[in-house]
Amino acid sequence: MGKRFYIETVGCQMNELDSELVMAALIEAGYEYVPRRQDADIILFNTCSVRQHAEDKIYSALGRLKHIKEQKPGKIIGVLGCMAQKDQSLILKRAPHVDLVVGPGQVARLPQILEDLAERGGPVVEVSLDRRGTSQQRVRASFLAPDRKERPFLRTTPHQAFVRIMFGCDKFCTYCIVPRVRGPEQSRSPWEILDEVRQLAEHGCVEVTLLGQTVNSYQWKEAGRSMRLSDLLSRVHEVEGIRRVKFVTNYPCDMTPDLLQAVRDLPKVCPYFHVPAQSGSNRILQRMKRGYTVEEYREILAAIRETVPGASVTSDFIVGFCGESEEDFEATVRLVEDARFKNSFIFKYSPRPGTKADELWPDDVPEEVKRRRNNELLAIQNRIGEEENRRFVGRQVEVLVEGPSKAGGKRPASDGVIQMTGRTVCDRIVVFPGSPTLTGQFVQVTIEDVSPVTLFGHLAGLQGAVS
Ligand code: 5AD
Ligand code: SF4
Repeated sequence: MGKRFYIETVGCQMNELDSELVMAALIEAGYEYVPRRQDADIILFNTCSVRQHAEDKIYSALGRLKHIKEQKPGKIIGVLGCMAQKDQSLILKRAPHVDLVVGPGQVARLPQILEDLAERGGPVVEVSLDRRGTSQQRVRASFLAPDRKERPFLRTTPHQAFVRIMFGCDKFCTYCIVPRVRGPEQSRSPWEILDEVRQLAEHGCVEVTLLGQTVNSYQWKEAGRSMRLSDLLSRVHEVEGIRRVKFVTNYPCDMTPDLLQAVRDLPKVCPYFHVPAQSGSNRILQRMKRGYTVEEYREILAAIRETVPGASVTSDFIVGFCGESEEDFEATVRLVEDARFKNSFIFKYSPRPGTKADELWPDDVPEEVKRRRNNELLAIQNRIGEEENRRFVGRQVEVLVEGPSKAGGKRPASDGVIQMTGRTVCDRIVVFPGSPTLTGQFVQVTIEDVSPVTLFGHLAGLQGAVS
């Protein structure tokens, strides 16, 4: 078996982190990463199953690889992540040329799994136990994947890192497949998390984003004491070298005053809250089993604005959920109008087999209605995003530079200046002419123009000229 691997990642930040860990584990085991699929002996897909569309794309990519496998049977094709956990051996039925199906709880063992495959042949299916299994302890253990331990240096973005603080989810919103594919909610030990952050900082990392499906439900009990996200933030805040700390995704009901106060009082913690509302209609929120009313959500927003003035808040919405009427949708529109989110991710409801919603109610909002509602809500959100961004025109913002802007094109102009991208402390994307050598640095940018999700500017003091 050849040793060159390629990995393609779809889905959320949790998946991005898992892919990074897979890459690090494989590189350490002697495999070589190649950025082009055609150069690889091992082709891996780290998959998402939150919506049907994400799965369809993977299945069609797998379909296109069939003839490659026929021509070169030695190539290994692997499906990792949430879709692997959800569909398991069904993937082998639909794509018999696949060699590996590995769930999110098993991806860290990939080097060993590949060795076993080389020795014993395949296909191999390695997934976590069913959540309704008999021993909860074994079920929980099967969903844990070790985090980056001693390998903080094998990273593509040395100055920024995701740090997982929780696994899984126990909220069971009726539309969502995540609790099934990512398993029970389990918080990581704060000492392990802090060790990881310290190691990252020692290797030049300046920004950490703490990750959890419901990151603010974090809880660690030890010696009769309980540690919450606010406590963890205070500890992470003390790590020398770290200059920015973010955390995503928040569950509205767990947005407690201690967390808001921690964000207010800890200068390194970014005043940025991703708090998905999903809908503005109480009838739909109840059907979704979100655990709050729209009035309660509005109170949470008011508390954020009051405690952390100037904070940016972002949200997720699902349009066209089972039984969503025009009236329900109008309630969502009103929430978006009033909340003035920095931005919102808007999704059309996609029924997921294995969820309560799919079991209980028909997917009865026609596709064209979903599309119209999606476009309408997006247009409103975009208008608000742009209005909010306008306030930055003429102002100087501090930007952590992430790298060349994809939209701006990577090729340098004749004078070596290219469009760079980075983020402000409140997570606004900033695009400005600069140089790749700025990646990982903090720079001051004067904003001259905006779009709904981007600020455009120039390096302060360097108008029109970048040396
Ligand atoms: N259909 C559409 N969107 C969904 N999400 C989760 N499950 C579904 C589904 N079945 C959205 C939610 C969540 C985001 C990550 O994906 O808005 O916050
Ligand atoms: Fe899914 Fe709800 Fe858990 Fe978020 S909180 S991962 S939407 S079940």
